Amino acid sequence: MAEVLREEYGNPSSVYAEGAAARARVEAARAEVAALLGARPADVRFTSGATEANNTVIAGLLGPGDHVVTSAVEHPSVDAPLRFLESRPGGGGLRVTRVAPDATGRVEAEAIAAAIRPETRLVTLIWANNETGAIQPVESVASVCRERGVTFHSDATQAVAKTEVDLRQVPCDFVSCSAHKLGGPKGVGALVGADNARLAPLLRGGGQERGLRGGTENVASIVGFGVACALARKEGEARAARARTLRDRLWAGLQRELPGVGWNGDPAHTLGNTLNVRFAGVEGEVLVQALDLEGVAVSAGAACHSGAIEPSGVLLAMGLTPQEARGSLRFSTGAGLSEADIDRVITLLRTLVPRVQAGEGA
Ligand SMILES: Cc1ncc(COP(=O)(O)O)c(C=O)c1O
Repeated sequence: MAEVLREEYGNPSSVYAEGAAARARVEAARAEVAALLGARPADVRFTSGATEANNTVIAGLLGPGDHVVTSAVEHPSVDAPLRFLESRPGGGGLRVTRVAPDATGRVEAEAIAAAIRPETRLVTLIWANNETGAIQPVESVASVCRERGVTFHSDATQAVAKTEVDLRQVPCDFVSCSAHKLGGPKGVGALVGADNARLAPLLRGGGQERGLRGGTENVASIVGFGVACALARKEGEARAARARTLRDRLWAGLQRELPGVGWNGDPAHTLGNTLNVRFAGVEGEVLVQALDLEGVAVSAGAACHSGAIEPSGVLLAMGLTPQEARGSLRFSTGAGLSEADIDRVITLLRTLVPRVQAGEGA
């Protein structure tokens, strides 16, 4: 990326040599993204990330009165545009069926199939959840959609490079992903699908990305995305196995040291790097801050909106009480962590959790 920024600042749309060099860089990266996902290079459209890819599918495909089937555990970049179109001023909004997950955060493929109606235009289902790591039955849902002739999109942002996302095996019409979830730069992602030409662009302009996204390409970031995909193809399996070993060590330690701790999800259907756990009688935010002071970065099962702490909608949809959701933490394991780091987190929580439970603060 540094090389491109310093030395190769051509515009891929220009015909002179610098432009052609930048174009070659972009196309090489496109081939890497395609290879990782089992797609054709021509099916990959670069975007500013998964948020834009998700919005492009939703806004680019759906019209007033269309029906959409989705889950109640989508990322906000799917949920918010659907809600916006549902409540479009002047009526004629979208109709959306949100299929509830079970207590482990998974939806049943049969429940999605049962929600499909003759006027259903799109089924969109997150591949793996960003808060719990729950892996959805995407393959079954994709097959049902193919049989019923309904367009299927999956937000695979969390799944790519952490579990198998092979579009030769799973018949998705569209898949969204984001480079920074697999070690690439922030602010670049892709929408992948053979039938991208069906979508109305979100950004109209110079017709880049085969007309789907006007605007000069972010060449350096695209190059970084390509490198991240190449590395993921080479090292992804080993990385995922390592993350799982560390995650399992963390879970074993928490169970040993903190009776009453509960896993929000089903280990058999969870990304290997994710552990979302609830601790009885604690405010997760207090633990997040205490761990941060110790140099440990975790997320709470809650989001802070305008100063008020809201329990996670994903955890509530799984049937947790607001109190349980607020007492939940999400741990992610990955590059740069050692067994000793995991053991230190376990030791810290062994002290912190009883203190917070006793109302002593952290
Ligand atoms: C599941 C999921 N979808 C979409 C996004 C949005 O990605 P970006 O912020 O890169 O657009 C994220 C990022 O956190 C995510 O986890």
